[in-house]
Amino acid sequence: MVWLRRATATDQAAIVALIRAARLNPFNLNWRRFIVADDGGRVVGAGQVKPHGDGARELASIAVAPDRQRQGIGGAIVATIIALEPPPLYLYCAEYNESYYLRFGFRTLAPAEMPRSLRRIHLFANLLFGAHNAVTGQHRRLVVMGRGLPGA
Ligand SMILES: CC(C)(COP(=O)(O)OP(=O)(O)OC[C@H]1O[C@@H](n2cnc3c(N)ncnc32)[C@H](O)[C@@H]1OP(=O)(O)O)[C@@H](O)C(=O)NCCC(=O)NCCS
Repeated sequence: MVWLRRATATDQAAIVALIRAARLNPFNLNWRRFIVADDGGRVVGAGQVKPHGDGARELASIAVAPDRQRQGIGGAIVATIIALEPPPLYLYCAEYNESYYLRFGFRTLAPAEMPRSLRRIHLFANLLFGAHNAVTGQHRRLVVMGRGLPGA
């Protein structure tokens, strides 16, 4: 049976392995901020909230082991973090993941609506993607999404 719990220090290596396998940002993976999905002692999913210097909090590092995807684990992690965290909550993701987060009430933000910290990441990442797209012919883009924004 899979259950969600707060991570402990002994989960650190499993968290890092999950995030690396999912090819997500491998920095700032402190177990203290993570919720993990535990299946009989095996960490099969993870997610965290990262605080930024300007006070923005970012839902990040959502990953589920490839052999356990599409079983509701990722959704349970996102829903649990939303329930635990006061709004607003932000995230950034590749454009192809945008529709995954719409179902949890996140919406894509215009730059003017983004907190300063995430606006900077958005600008920088999309400059890099622009160069990458020019070379490869791909159309990759990073989007910033938010939920429970003041006045929304
Ligand atoms: C994205 C991810 C966390 C979803 O976890 P999961 O446990 O498979 O998700 P759930 O079982 O809760 O939900 C599955 C549903 O999400 C949909 N889904 C999965 N990935 C999706 C994506 N990238 N975009 C849109 N929908 C997606 C599935 O089609 C499925 O839809 P359905 O219920 O209508 O059939 C998982 O696929 C993963 O770890 N991916 C690699 C890492 C990653 O991209 N993380 C997101 C970083 S922003």
